[in-house]
Amino acid sequence: MNKLMWKRFQLALVIICFSVGCKSLSQNKADDKGLAAYYKNYFPIGVAVNIKTLSGDESQLLLKEFNSITPENAMKMESIHPREDFYFWRDADSMVNYAQNHHLKVRGHNLCWHEQVPNWLFKDQKGNEVTKEVLLQRLKDHITTVVQRYKGKIYAWDVLNEVIGDTDEEFIRNSPWYKICGEEYIAKAFEYAHAADPEALLFYNDYNTERPIKRDKIYRLLKKLIDQKIPIHGIGLQAHWSVFEPSEKDLRDAIELYSSLGLQIHFTELDMSIYPWEKNKRQKLAGENDQLTPALERKQIEQYAKVFKIFREYKNITSVTFWNVSDRYTWLDYYPVPGRKNYPLLFDQNLQRKKAYAEIIKF
Ligand code: GLA
Repeated sequence: MNKLMWKRFQLALVIICFSVGCKSLSQNKADDKGLAAYYKNYFPIGVAVNIKTLSGDESQLLLKEFNSITPENAMKMESIHPREDFYFWRDADSMVNYAQNHHLKVRGHNLCWHEQVPNWLFKDQKGNEVTKEVLLQRLKDHITTVVQRYKGKIYAWDVLNEVIGDTDEEFIRNSPWYKICGEEYIAKAFEYAHAADPEALLFYNDYNTERPIKRDKIYRLLKKLIDQKIPIHGIGLQAHWSVFEPSEKDLRDAIELYSSLGLQIHFTELDMSIYPWEKNKRQKLAGENDQLTPALERKQIEQYAKVFKIFREYKNITSVTFWNVSDRYTWLDYYPVPGRKNYPLLFDQNLQRKKAYAEIIKF
């Protein structure tokens, strides 16, 4: 090799090393960037947490990828108010402290629901059903105590969960709340929450909110509340979806209908089941497959890409929260078919980003 060739060879080597170095540096940088950072110009991205999520590798993933949390169970009435004269604050407090320490937002979930309620709630000491006056007073005490405790630390509350009936004929669900109080408890819950923290954003939260018949019933309820000047600021669309639904049309129609009421929209419990939606618990069938097959994975990627593209288009979508961190633990492994594995989230069982992740950050 003559001198000139040697010089050229050295130069080429320097250029190659430099570009390889830059590439791996930029790859590392991209890996450092979490989902919430990709979406910083759109909306906060949250995740439902339990106590385990707040330490170890799940906590590391949470802090890298998300900037908002929702307690999965710790603030539900059964957990936080197990006896009439006793509140169990420990877990809920830990979550709120964790959020404060790491500058995460907190969505409170939830103040009034017909499930996961404590035994004492609807009965008096003799075991008889309480009157409407007693139940409304209990609701007021509960909401006031919980909301005041976290005033200024919880920016949004799911005040009412799942009030609309599932069958096409049923408007308000025939729950003990409704049987004892009639519709009145709905407006009251919002009023109590607003009085306890006038700054907090108050949401109505439900599932199957994109299915046209249920959507129209929810709209009817929200419109009624707004017309009565009840303090309500948004609707929470749970988004317990699947690779089969919602369709683009149903999702857009729902967003646009709720938006016409001037409400904020939060997607509060997002996951993308690989099975069609079912409500009733049942046993796993013999031979029922529970693998994330390549075909289902493809469908899931497309479904995630589709809904996030839609989310980015509407300015009044102000939060998106996933229901659990990764496929390592999801409530869908227990419900509706206990023991049937599901893979509904963006991170796999080893907490690695799934292919759908790459699709939703392509914009
Ligand atoms: C509903 C509730 C949530 C949670 C899920 C299942 O969507 O709103 O709190 O219980 O069911 O995990």
